[in-house]
Amino acid sequence: MATREQDVFDSLGRGLNSLVGWIDARFPLTKLIKEHATEYYAAKNFNLWYGFGVLALVVLVIQLVTGIFLTMNYKPSAEDAFASVEYIMRDVDWGWLIRYMHSTGASAFFIVVYLHMFRGLMYGSYKKPRELVWLIGMAIYLCLMAEAFFGYLLPWGNMSYWGAQVIVSLFGAIPVIGDGLAEWIRGDYYISDITLNRFFAFHVIAVPLMLVLLVVVHIMALHEVGSLNPDGIEIKEHKGPDGKPLDGVPFHPYHTSKDLVIIVVFLIAFAAVVFFAPEMGGYFLEHANFEPADPLKTPEHIAPVWYFTPFYAILRAVPDKLLGVILMGLAVLLPTLLPWLDRCRVKSIRYRGWTYKVALAVFAISFLALGYLGLQPATGIYPTLARVFTVLYFAFFLLMPFYTRNEKTKPVPARVTK
Ligand code: HEM
Repeated sequence: MATREQDVFDSLGRGLNSLVGWIDARFPLTKLIKEHATEYYAAKNFNLWYGFGVLALVVLVIQLVTGIFLTMNYKPSAEDAFASVEYIMRDVDWGWLIRYMHSTGASAFFIVVYLHMFRGLMYGSYKKPRELVWLIGMAIYLCLMAEAFFGYLLPWGNMSYWGAQVIVSLFGAIPVIGDGLAEWIRGDYYISDITLNRFFAFHVIAVPLMLVLLVVVHIMALHEVGSLNPDGIEIKEHKGPDGKPLDGVPFHPYHTSKDLVIIVVFLIAFAAVVFFAPEMGGYFLEHANFEPADPLKTPEHIAPVWYFTPFYAILRAVPDKLLGVILMGLAVLLPTLLPWLDRCRVKSIRYRGWTYKVALAVFAISFLALGYLGLQPATGIYPTLARVFTVLYFAFFLLMPFYTRNEKTKPVPARVTK
């Protein structure tokens, strides 16, 4: 018996080997698997912060797959869009699940990506030689913002309509060309069926294509220089006689098995939101968006979805519209310059001086506070607080060359610790 089963397995194994051999002679399959998984060495001391990159990949797949199924029943026209989303929610088999996964996925994407970026700030992942990994990451972040903005118009709810109205009209603040530019973006004098159609085209094909391409390039660039680690030590600098980094382990199976646990825990949390709180009290799906778009009825309180509110708070903190738009744009783009603003040679926060630790804490608090303030009405004490936190947000970046230049750092160990 055992020998017969053994024979079957042996012949299956031989079949698989010859198939792989056949492919390898025509396409570098084994070479790619070795380069990016089984012989890609990453530090053995990765912590949870190093799990958010793979989670971003998981969310990207969730968004692409659920997006395809939503598109099968969604109608991109001002006449039908709102009703088609209701149809998906009520009549299409499993439509409610697909839609809630997609709407929850949008927020999950930003949660995961903000934490992924914060890891970069903690461990100096943007520093030499990973500047390009960071820059590509920033391009991904901009695409993600565009993707979320275009997608938000599609259900054609009242907040979709007025949100797009507010954001597109910001371009009108630009002198001379502003009004023409806003009209060019809308394709009409107001947000209309034409705008909906072009936002649909961007949301379902143009931007996702860019995102996927950029993510591939992001990981290729990372694998060229190698991943950093919570100690901020370059593992390539300490190799054994076999030429392998002493502090590294092959990405597969050692990190893939750890990542699998992180993915399962994430999916449990994700499912809990999808099944029990898909609107998240109005933060993931805003209440005003359960009413169809109405150009004659402005929602009582227009606010973007939570992931844009830090920047929205900065926009509103400035009384002058044009200056507000400029500051908001700068706030989004400034992290791009981090590799050059940070003058400290030490990478990881574990060995950096107190100045950077305090600055990073103040920055994180300011970002969260601005996020909260962007959700509140611009009355009472709120605008003043928004101004204070806007100043602190910009100070983190603009003063960085000064407070990092002579930072009192701790000695960095030669080999990774824990
Ligand atoms: C769709 C969005 C994104 C995906 C799928 C993604 C994917 C990944 C993956 C799989 C890794 C390796 C694992 C890890 O270190 O966590 C990584 C590393 C990295 N990512 Fe991203 N990323 C995304 C967005 C971003 C953004 C927005 C930034 C920053 C602006 C960024 C900056 C970096 C950096 C600097 C590293 C290297 C970290 C290190 O070695 O310490 N990524 N990314």
